[in-house]
Amino acid sequence: MRRYRNILAAFAAVLWAAWALAAPARAESLVLTSPDGRIAITISDAGGEASYEVAFEGRPVIARSRLGLLFAAHHGFERDLAITAAARASRDDTWEQPWGERRQVRDRHNELAVTFSATTGPARSMVVRFRAFDDGIGFRYELGAQAALAGELAIVEELTQFAVGETTQMWYTPSDEFNRYEYLTRTGAAGKVDDAHTPATFRNGDGIYFSIHEAALVDYSAMSLGALRPGTFEARLRNWSGGPKVITRAPFHSPWRTIQIAPAAVGLINSDLILNLNEPNKLGDVSWVEPGKYVGIWWAMHIRDRTWGREGIHGATTDEAKRYIDFAARHGFAGVLVEGWNIGWDGDWFNNGDLFRFTEAMPDFDLEEVARYALAKGVRLIGHHETSANITNYENQMEAAFDLYQRLGVRQVKTGYVADAGDVVRIDAKGIRRYEWHDSQFMVRHHLKVVEEAARRQISINAHEPVKDTGLRRTYPNWISREGARGMEFNAWGTPPNPPEHEAMLAFTRMLAGPMDFTPGIFDLRPNERPPLRPDMPRSDPSNRPQTTLAKQLALYVVLYSPIQMAADLPENYEARPDAFQFIKDVETDWEQSIALAGEIGDYVAIARQGRKSKEWFLGAVSDEEARDLALTLSFLEPGRQYRAQIYRDGADADWDTNPYAMVIEEKLVTGGDAFALRLAPGGGAAVRFIPVT
Ligand code: NOJ
Repeated sequence: MRRYRNILAAFAAVLWAAWALAAPARAESLVLTSPDGRIAITISDAGGEASYEVAFEGRPVIARSRLGLLFAAHHGFERDLAITAAARASRDDTWEQPWGERRQVRDRHNELAVTFSATTGPARSMVVRFRAFDDGIGFRYELGAQAALAGELAIVEELTQFAVGETTQMWYTPSDEFNRYEYLTRTGAAGKVDDAHTPATFRNGDGIYFSIHEAALVDYSAMSLGALRPGTFEARLRNWSGGPKVITRAPFHSPWRTIQIAPAAVGLINSDLILNLNEPNKLGDVSWVEPGKYVGIWWAMHIRDRTWGREGIHGATTDEAKRYIDFAARHGFAGVLVEGWNIGWDGDWFNNGDLFRFTEAMPDFDLEEVARYALAKGVRLIGHHETSANITNYENQMEAAFDLYQRLGVRQVKTGYVADAGDVVRIDAKGIRRYEWHDSQFMVRHHLKVVEEAARRQISINAHEPVKDTGLRRTYPNWISREGARGMEFNAWGTPPNPPEHEAMLAFTRMLAGPMDFTPGIFDLRPNERPPLRPDMPRSDPSNRPQTTLAKQLALYVVLYSPIQMAADLPENYEARPDAFQFIKDVETDWEQSIALAGEIGDYVAIARQGRKSKEWFLGAVSDEEARDLALTLSFLEPGRQYRAQIYRDGADADWDTNPYAMVIEEKLVTGGDAFALRLAPGGGAAVRFIPVT
């Protein structure tokens, strides 16, 4: 009987194999739809090429676009490919974020894993795994261990294309220029764009909004978009110095290539697709990761009141740090960042990454005493590691540096990688000095090394001049924030400073990647008009100033998400305006829920968020250079419940340029579901706190 069963099983296996071989003819075109049926991905092997296309409600988003990989010394996946297997799955789960824009995240998707096999040359296959969510799609390459791919595998090209259409409107920053991700958002027809970082945001002729990005960038190089021909981009992977783009071995998988899709611009902000395509938390209990607000010895250097090094007025002195700690304790801030505290800042620190010492303080800064003083006042020192992008110098000292901070009770470290794009220093095994890119596989590996070393010591990382965010905060919740765009500092010295539309651009572009340490809250809106403190410390051009009203500075705490938010200005500037400062003291940074209510890319945006601790709601709205009347509905508040709305809004004649301080602070009783009108000035904004009436 058993023998008979075995024969039957063998017969079934032969039948299955015959079906699998016959599959190419039947499976030339496979369709995967999102759970709500609105998004459809069509995957094909027509012409022997792997390709996909994406439609929303039957209208094209991505026209037929190729897929594939090329290697330096192995046969690749480019031509003579056939679909030989396909496996479907679906999921509907909800998972909880330890901190974030919302506590509960729903992951509902359908999946199709398609095997493309080579029909010529050595036997080999790649799986392209697609997931379709209601808010977009993701796909990645998966290569199993196989004889044809044995040994070190050097990827020289990823053939992924995105045919978005020549006239599709695009919002992006350039990807190959010296200032890394720190460019003003550009806009124009996709057909005219040469290269772009992701997230890049689009609106096509059918009015469909979408954003191309990637998720879970681990041990691979970052992808940017390069024009292949007008309206069609290909995935450009950053290369190693003098080498290929990615060095790996099978089995491996690529990061997810993502396309968030929505019928309205705010739908992109409300999407959780990037997080859903990352792996769950690997760190276990992360109750030591602390969202919150901080102040610091920072803006004073950017406006040239102080210096990082000792050639001017050194900022990071023990006394000055204590002054900030006292201020933080008085006003309820959790942390005090101190920059310029360690050896290495004197002179040309931009180009002297070799000199930084991460365990040695300047003589006028008593690190132990400052950390102790802070803890005694219920505040924590926030550490700072500026590396000037000399990675070897930093990695040689990193573990000792984190040990030191851990011993002193530091829970958060801001890292920095100031250097031009392509100037990251790596000393190789032979002692040769190499130059890498900030978004190379080398730096992708480095950042995770930092995050893992920090996690071992219960320290969270806020990286400046980072690699872009791809949602790894889900897997490593101690990667608490990062920069990776033009932040507030450009308003101190940026010539040109950030224009009034900047934050309404960021909300729909950079912010789709994840939290940003923008460092809002500047209250002295003309910092460079003050006389210099010393003739050898001249201020920057007075045209460098925040091009916002005061109310908009407050709105940024709600609009630009980060679980850590700085109150970036000098203590004395806050104490001069206690009424406006109250909003910064009240606003939370960790959210139960977040809802982008209304907005258009680069014009305006209004976002509501509910605090995790207080359950109060906060609303932030910002405009570009135009004045606007927003007609919102308080549909996010509990229906029928009364709330005290504390409103900080632009005064009637407010204008970022001529009258930035005109602000009205008023209180109103509102009810969930009420209509709620807000007038935003040119360069203006509004911030509202809704306190439930008990
Ligand atoms: C650039 C960072 O963005 C800024 O925040 C920091 O103050 C300087 N580097 C010095 O590390």
